[in-house]
Amino acid sequence: MKVCHKVADIQKYISYSRKEGKSIGFVPTMGALHEGHLSLLRACNTHSDISVVSIFVNPTQFNDKNDLEKYPKTIENDLLALLNEQCAVLFYPDVEEIYPSGTQLQQTYDLGVLETLFEGHYRPGHFQGVCQVVDRLFSIIHPNKVFFGQKDYQQCMVIKKLIALQPAFSNIEMHIVPTVREQSGLAMSSRNLRLSEDEKALATTIYQSLLFIKQSIKPGGTDILTSRAKEQLEQKGFKVDYVAVAHAITLEPVHHWDGKIPLVALIAAYLGNVRLIDNMILS
Ligand code: PAJ
Repeated sequence: MKVCHKVADIQKYISYSRKEGKSIGFVPTMGALHEGHLSLLRACNTHSDISVVSIFVNPTQFNDKNDLEKYPKTIENDLLALLNEQCAVLFYPDVEEIYPSGTQLQQTYDLGVLETLFEGHYRPGHFQGVCQVVDRLFSIIHPNKVFFGQKDYQQCMVIKKLIALQPAFSNIEMHIVPTVREQSGLAMSSRNLRLSEDEKALATTIYQSLLFIKQSIKPGGTDILTSRAKEQLEQKGFKVDYVAVAHAITLEPVHHWDGKIPLVALIAAYLGNVRLIDNMILS
């Protein structure tokens, strides 16, 4: 596996591979790699000749400074994990390499309602920061295919929109890879490293709440289900940002289901000071 810290180095490697006719698959991450990230890499390997993984903790997508400071960094384990898989190149730049003229936004991305709903509402500026870094990474790597996890459902919709907005990305094929879970049902996340064993056991309530909604949903009002799930979480000590049922593509909240439109259930809640998100396709 080649490790590149510099934009010029990775571009040299990639342009050489492209001249050989190889397709480039790309998996962007912020490190602290777990099986969820590795499942993206495996999907990437299946669909591309060359797999590029990036590890970059992007400061501009953290609306909470504390969250950025506490973000886990496990680069040695990450390198070992990637060496055990098939990964042609790891791109591991520093902040100056990604943002040579500073971290301020050079442009605003028109994300429509995605920016005001759920994560957009609770983490102002977050998706602008995600678009800023993903735009930069795509422009450096020029991937043929990119791989994102369903775990961050709204992020997937934002990236779809970014690809549609930028003509330079129109040929990029986006793959959404299913969420990898612990045996308990807890969605794997780098932030789980900040949970104690007891908290991890409690955190499975989020998965159970999603299952409860999936198993109970029927045409008609949906608020009764989301309120019940929210209560259940609050009783167990979570501070809930949202429990929602939404249109699976537009993410507009659905309070009354006609039994036909595709639905997703979305949850964000704090356990102590760790914010967890998860989702489940309902229909
Ligand atoms: P990060 O949280 O490191 O996640 C990197 C990728 O791994 C994302 O596409 C995420 O959805 C996926 N992922 C995380 N947990 C997963 C799980 N349990 N199962 C499947 N996929 C999972 O998301 C980011 O980084 C950043 O916002 C990034 C896109 C890299 C931009 O900075």
